[in-house]
Parts: sequence; structure tokens; C-alpha cells
Amino acid sequence: MSNKKGREITITALKYNPNVKASKPHFVEYKLEETPGMTLFVALNYIREHLDSDLAFDFVCRAGICGSCGMMINGKPRLACRTLTSEFEDGKIQLLPMPAFKLLKDLSVNTGAWMNGMSKRVESWIHSSEKVDIAKLEKRVEPESAQETFELDRCIECGICLAACGTKVMRPDFIGAVGLNRVARFDVDVHDERTAEDFYELVGDDNGVFGCMTLLGCEDNCPKNLPLQTKIAYMRRKLVALR
Ligand code: SF4
Ligand code: FES
Repeated sequence: MSNKKGREITITALKYNPNVKASKPHFVEYKLEETPGMTLFVALNYIREHLDSDLAFDFVCRAGICGSCGMMINGKPRLACRTLTSEFEDGKIQLLPMPAFKLLKDLSVNTGAWMNGMSKRVESWIHSSEKVDIAKLEKRVEPESAQETFELDRCIECGICLAACGTKVMRPDFIGAVGLNRVARFDVDVHDERTAEDFYELVGDDNGVFGCMTLLGCEDNCPKNLPLQTKIAYMRRKLVALR
């Protein structure tokens, strides 16, 4: 085993607790030794264990699945658990909480409350008049159709597309790529009986499908490489006919 020391890296994180009156936003710098294959998940946990037990950030899965660890990393929204510290040649990494969501503390934001509101707004459940009989076999679905639904279902609700979205800055109630992707997901699902008119009722306005300014921040940054712009364009073409 090699005893070679890793390089020193500097992580600067914003600290602020909006629930404490005396708290003021400020940066704190942490210096630590980089270990082989170190991700920001590992680095932040090292900081919390050895340097600052008060630093708040979110993680659950460490594997790019739960969508909890989105943050601004040197100005770009990314998943901290999928970001290697070695990507930063000068060893300097600045961390900020994602905009577009309510700040809880330091790097932790409440994406859950926003996603819950979005899910209600787009009625994120199968709308079907069919009675479900669990004794019967499920309705057959063509593999291509199932694959199409599955592809859009890969969204992990990390919120990165919203943190990267210029439209969201101008329109606080914009549903974002995550919401429009969700609509597209139910549009392709053969179990959902909703029509274009039904979807128009939900997202046929400037806070929905007509608000997107095609700035591409969502698709450029989505960690799941979802075809967000293609799907937004498709839904817009479909719904504009109803205007
Ligand atoms: S669409 Fe992509 S960036 Fe947006 S919430 Fe889903 S996985 Fe994250
Ligand atoms: S900790 Fe789950 S996606 Fe990063």
C-alpha cells in the first residue's frame, strides 16, 4: 500500500441558518487531504466528522439515485455524490445551496416541498376510468411504449434542472423541466386516459409549457441525461394547437 500523501484541497462552503435571527450568510474554508477516488460526499462527511459538526447538507444514497445531494459546485448545479474532487485541478471547490428552493441551512434546501407541490399541480398519478381487478392479469403494454415511459420515469427529483433554469429566476412559479417531463411521462403512458385538453388545463400557460425560453440549462445539467428539451418541445407543439 502506498503511503504517499494526497494533495491538500480547499472547500469553501456557504453557511447560513435562515431560522436564526443572528445568523448571517458567510463562507467558511476547510482544508483537507484528498484521498483516492474522493467524492464531495466523502469530503463533506470528513468535514462534518473532523472539522465542523454544524455544517448542514443532504445525502441518502451516495449513488446518484435519491436526488438529495444537489448543490452549486463551483457555480454549476450538480450531485455532490457523483462529483470527484480530482475534477478540480487547482483543488479549490466552492459550494453554495441550490437556488429555486427554500433554504433550510447551509447547503441543505427543501426540494421535497417543491416537488410535492409540482406533483399535485400536474396531478402526477394515473387517470383511468377502468376499474382495477387485482385478480386479473395487468393490461399488456408494448415493450417500446413501456420503455418510453420508463425512460422519462428515471427522473430522481434532484432539482438540478430548476437550479440551472433562467426562466425559473424570472418566473418563480414556473413548473420547470422536471414538471414538464412529468407531464410528458403521463402523456406517453398507455394507462393514463388524459387528453391534450386535460394537460392544457394543467400546464397550458406561461408558468407551464409556454414559459420555457429554451435556454437548455436543464438538459445540459440533468444528471440522468433526460431528453428534457425534446420532451418540452413535443408537449409545446401538442398544446399550442389548442390555444
Ligand atoms: S429532470 Fe433531471 S435534473 Fe431535473 S429533477 Fe429530474 S433528474 Fe434532476
Ligand atoms: S446522495 Fe443520493 S443522489 Fe447523491
